[in-house]
Amino acid sequence: MASVGKSIEQATNWLREGYPVAIPTETVYGLAANACREDALIRIFEAKKRPLFDPLIVHLPTVNSILTYAKDIPRLAFDLWERYSPGPLTLVLPKSDKLPDLLCSGLPTAGFRIPAHPVALQVLNAIDFPLAAPSANLFGRVSPTTTAHVLDQLGDHIPYILDGGPCSVGLESTIIDLSGPEPILRREGGIPSQSIEEELKITLQRPVHAYRLHDGFVPSAGTLDNHYAPKVPLICYHNNEELSNIVSRLSSMHPDPNARTAGKPPMRDPTLGMLRFQSDTPDHFRKLCEETKLVSLRNIEILSPSGDLKEAARNLFAAMRSLEVGCDLILAEQAPEHGLGMAINDRLWRASVKGAPR
Ligand code: TXA
Ligand code: MG
Repeated sequence: MASVGKSIEQATNWLREGYPVAIPTETVYGLAANACREDALIRIFEAKKRPLFDPLIVHLPTVNSILTYAKDIPRLAFDLWERYSPGPLTLVLPKSDKLPDLLCSGLPTAGFRIPAHPVALQVLNAIDFPLAAPSANLFGRVSPTTTAHVLDQLGDHIPYILDGGPCSVGLESTIIDLSGPEPILRREGGIPSQSIEEELKITLQRPVHAYRLHDGFVPSAGTLDNHYAPKVPLICYHNNEELSNIVSRLSSMHPDPNARTAGKPPMRDPTLGMLRFQSDTPDHFRKLCEETKLVSLRNIEILSPSGDLKEAARNLFAAMRSLEVGCDLILAEQAPEHGLGMAINDRLWRASVKGAPR
């Protein structure tokens, strides 16, 4: 079982020996290992049960240190770093030969990020190699924002979890691909893409969810449907009307009471978890549950009572984890469609049974 502690020395000792260690970043906890050692990278893929086709991103402490591992860096990359780094931004750039193919699933590019969390920076400054660090969760599942989340999913597979407190952003980094002629938004994240466009006066392309690898299309995990998924199905809704429709549909799926007496296996009503953006569960929903007696409400998580998008982002993954315990189904209200709301909704869509709308 992993030990949890605050020792930079213990963390860096494991890293130097080629073992993965969970480290705090401002976005989510990362499962870090030496990005230049294939044996260390294999241990990340194994611990996360992550398919090898999903490339890892590289963490370094400064722009200067990135210059060793990336090449053909466009002017825009420096502008973005100047404005947003250290911080929740990952830039995809052509990679140098110093990074092994395994890291990037054979792609000629790699994602580079300078995290802002002081503990992550302390670790990076104490070693002389870059860290590959995907989010420290099992592949496809909800990302971790506390050490307890990491312990829960990866505790049996890694030696050490470095404690840096709960993550302040709570959503993964925004990924911008600068390896082609036009900048491409690969993932909405901790810095709203809208703000980046406005502040730097650029336009980001938003392509279909796939990128080209040699002759074939390989999906990027952050862009796979059914990513960030809790253990139970999640359904997104926009407004109270949609919510009522969903509850009615659930009610109509209730087994015919006669079926029970006809000797069919007994079924119980689904227990619902509600993920609300701002407000408490509306009275009409509670009434609907009471009237129909068909769905029982187990738990409600409110992301931000005051409607603050930053607070909502910070609470999102922990709320999803808390609802997956003891609920059969999660109904999730979407956030407003601007700023960090875009990244929140992106994670909700991907966690939902339908996946992201195309
Ligand atoms: O905030 C974050 O970015 C966190 C913290 C730990 O830094 N890390 C993180 O890593 O979210 P991960 O592996 O969970 O997500 C990185 C995403 C993956 O979806 C991967 O497919 C994509 O980045 N990616 C990595 N390299 C890429 C590349 N060369 N081209 C396109 N996408 C890439
Ligand atoms: Mg991830």
